[in-house]
Amino acid sequence: MKVLYLSTSGDLGGAERNLLDVLSVVREARPEWQLELIAGADGPLATKARDLGVSTAVLPFPACLERLGDAGAGGPAGRDVPRFDLFRKCLLASPEILSYIVRLRTALARTQPQLIHSVGFKMHVLSSWSKPANAALLWHIHDYVRSRPLMASLLRRHSHFCDTAVTNSRSVAADFTANCGSTMRAHTVYNGIDLDRFSPSGDTVDLDQLSGLPAAEPGTIRVGLVATFARWKGHLVYLRALAALPQHLPVRGYVVGGNIYRTAGSHFTIGELRSEAAKLGLSAKVGFAGFLENSAAAMRSLDVVVHASTEPEPFGLVIAEAMSCGKPVIVAEAGGALEISSLGINALGHTPGDAAQLTGSILSLVENRELRARLGAEGRRTAEKRFDRKSMVRELLRLYDEISLPRGLQRTALKAVAGAGPGTP
Ligand code: GLC
Repeated sequence: MKVLYLSTSGDLGGAERNLLDVLSVVREARPEWQLELIAGADGPLATKARDLGVSTAVLPFPACLERLGDAGAGGPAGRDVPRFDLFRKCLLASPEILSYIVRLRTALARTQPQLIHSVGFKMHVLSSWSKPANAALLWHIHDYVRSRPLMASLLRRHSHFCDTAVTNSRSVAADFTANCGSTMRAHTVYNGIDLDRFSPSGDTVDLDQLSGLPAAEPGTIRVGLVATFARWKGHLVYLRALAALPQHLPVRGYVVGGNIYRTAGSHFTIGELRSEAAKLGLSAKVGFAGFLENSAAAMRSLDVVVHASTEPEPFGLVIAEAMSCGKPVIVAEAGGALEISSLGINALGHTPGDAAQLTGSILSLVENRELRARLGAEGRRTAEKRFDRKSMVRELLRLYDEISLPRGLQRTALKAVAGAGPGTP
């Protein structure tokens, strides 16, 4: 069996980190299979896939396509409307895109995969144009399409090329079905985590030192937002929430992450965030630790992990990772984030964008060690039950098997798989 993975982005956003988990576990589960990856841009995804032993090629998108950004760079709903025109122009005017399709088609014809697994909206469309007739096609959808009318219409028009769509949450599945008007069922397979790496015990990091701050007083509660610098990740809400905490509380905030995308998009710069923190009088109370490759160690060094996205989060890998590390997490109550957490059991919440509510939830955890321990332990149990990457790959392999069946048999088989669905909390 030959499986070809296609990725729009070469950077390591959530969708691409998930793809690496898929590659790693599929390799383990099916060592005899041949796995290949083609990425639309060079970057850490290609490097890490090669490290896993996956034969990897980079087929760089033409400049106009690359600049558009996609899952992760623009993020979900509402952030890339101005780019639609650019995309339209690109498609209409573009011999570059046509020649890209020809090159992709040639690469696919050379590889002759039985199955193509694509990640990123643009690759979903491009894979439809380029796939060999007898290859099965799976779209792995990680983001909402509702505020991307052009993309929704492209996906709708190409959905008949796709044998099955997999989404990272039920919320994304509902969005896909509603906006792509497709008759195709979307199967939800929750993202899986490497439970050994994201584990309660393991190495930690010195967040104070990394942030250039003096060591915090013993007993300080460390509260961190772990996210890319995309504006919708809610850094401003988080900083405002920290600023509203009573001054005497032994709390230090951390911003862990950076601007990891090279594609166009709406991101904070570190300068903007620092100056916002200074304006709020937080300079000595918030550390900027930067992007940390070992995010599990960063999470283990925190007492509370905050997720503050101001728009519905399709899944929220950080939430599952924090749970897996046994950390209490505060989530922005919307979209997939709400679906994967159980408020009061393994997480606390706040209305997206509501800094005062976020302050309240931070306060509840800072003041209550027992609550932190209880939510953290329950989080780990949830992760073991729902976010094990081995179970994720088992579900994907089941779908791989079904869609590689002769066409006539697929319909019945997929119906049976659709009935199964992901686990509940
Ligand atoms: C996308 C989504 C994010 C999700 C990730 C992995 O980046 O925006 O919510 O966690 O994909 O599925």
